[in-house]
Amino acid sequence: MIRVAAVGDVHLGRGSAGTFRPHVEHLQELADILLIAGDLTTCGHPDEARVVAEELAGLPVPVVAVLGNHDYHAGREDEVREELEAGGVQVLEGEAATFDVDGVSVAVAGAKGFGGGFLGACASDFGEPEMKAFVRHTKDIAERFCAALSSADADVRIALLHYSPVAETLAGEPLEIYPFLGSYLLGEAVDRAGADLVLHGHAHGGTEKGVTAGGVHVRNVAQPVIGQAYALYCLGSDSSSSATSRTMSGAAAP
Ligand SMILES: [Fe+2]
Ligand SMILES: [Fe+2]
Repeated sequence: MIRVAAVGDVHLGRGSAGTFRPHVEHLQELADILLIAGDLTTCGHPDEARVVAEELAGLPVPVVAVLGNHDYHAGREDEVREELEAGGVQVLEGEAATFDVDGVSVAVAGAKGFGGGFLGACASDFGEPEMKAFVRHTKDIAERFCAALSSADADVRIALLHYSPVAETLAGEPLEIYPFLGSYLLGEAVDRAGADLVLHGHAHGGTEKGVTAGGVHVRNVAQPVIGQAYALYCLGSDSSSSATSRTMSGAAAP
């Protein structure tokens, strides 16, 4: 049994020092790994990322993250990544990492993802170069993400995104902004590669639970959605017991 603590959209800023750390200080008592589904910072400034890194540094469990759109806002995402990695956070973008938890191998494949919408109401690779660039950006990310997830050979495989792979976990957000909250291409990538669980954030007004067309459980762990410092999910190493249950959650949100 793998215990996964997950949260997205903590949006820490320069004044957030000391606000998140108390909630994860003793995380090893509840979880084997902490996954962060993007938007770690408020506006993507490296000094905000330094605050995040200090909040997470030296935790007793592996910490893995993808960046979100807020982490790109200042155009300094490479520095944001460097600051996070200096604090021991493993940042994934079209990449996978594998961990051993008491003899069970756990792979996490991660990518930011991007928008485009969902079947029947999605952007298409047609017309102006700006629209083609928008759609191609999602396609490129989805392909790299699919390759990373496919290459992850482990007992338990988790997909970590910022943007949503399904419309179901967006329920509660205005329909008009669905194309900016996720893309069906990410869901197709998950179903092609296979996974035991997909985690994402970004949709602050969405819904926690969903499922891909192929039957993979999806969880929107944006902090405003889960309403707590993190959600905790338990995954069995036996694929027949991969149904994910949220057993309990972390302490109150900072
Ligand atoms: Fe966010
Ligand atoms: Fe976001």
